[in-house]
Amino acid sequence: MSSTTQLKSSEEASFGPKEFFNEQWKVYQKVLNNNYMGHREVYCILHEILVGYFQKPFKMLDLGCGDASFTAQALLNTNIVSYEGIDLSTPALEIAKQNMARIQCDATFTQGDFSELVSQLVQAQQNRFDAILISFALHHLHLQQKDYFIGQLKSLLSSGGIFILIDVVRNEVEDRESYIQRYLEGVQKHWSLLTPQEYSMVENHISSSDFPETQQTLQEISQKYNFTQFKCLYCDPQNTTQVLCFYQ
Ligand SMILES: C[S@@+](CC[C@H](N)C(=O)[O-])C[C@H]1O[C@@H](n2cnc3c(N)ncnc32)[C@H](O)[C@@H]1O
Repeated sequence: MSSTTQLKSSEEASFGPKEFFNEQWKVYQKVLNNNYMGHREVYCILHEILVGYFQKPFKMLDLGCGDASFTAQALLNTNIVSYEGIDLSTPALEIAKQNMARIQCDATFTQGDFSELVSQLVQAQQNRFDAILISFALHHLHLQQKDYFIGQLKSLLSSGGIFILIDVVRNEVEDRESYIQRYLEGVQKHWSLLTPQEYSMVENHISSSDFPETQQTLQEISQKYNFTQFKCLYCDPQNTTQVLCFYQ
């Protein structure tokens, strides 16, 4: 029960040429397979949230879903009835479609920039979601963009819905440069199966594209938009990754 909308050819997708997608993709798969970013733990928490919180059928929006491999596992044995995955990458969405096939729900996959697509959803006022997930993708936005984006997500949540943010988070006393230095020290120490070339790709990506906020800043945003509660449901031992829940 799935459909794919607005998919373009892989060359048109923002990942760019197929070879580039494959290189990035291979490294990310290696990171996932070796649990370097802690996906096993955080998605186990996600599963517990979804099972515990949604005793009734629920609709989920997954922003920057990638191949949805971990989301699909977290959705097993839950009351999901409809799933919408959004990602920039057409090849990732094609794999997401296969990964979600084992989950009994209506599934749609849309290629595009989640900021633009969320704005369109808000304007259309047709769809509301019980759960909105964004995992390891919000930190690419700058603070003002994150603030505006989270405000828009609030208006897409059903009554009693939750926004679940899985992401890298800075320590309260840490600026971006110190965070990146600390994170890359961890990568050098623990991501031991990366080749020097792969390490270089990871380093470039993190240095140029990661803009994590502190938990305090994210909590202030939740208060600004009148979320009723804000909870940190998991923090990894390295103090880099958190599962944060914003309650409608
Ligand atoms: C690090 S991966 C995370 C994938 C998956 N959510 C996970 O937790 O493993 C980031 C994903 O977000 C997507 N992405 C990044 N910025 C995006 C944007 N502005 N709009 C849509 N997708 C985006 C990328 O294409 C990629 O698939």
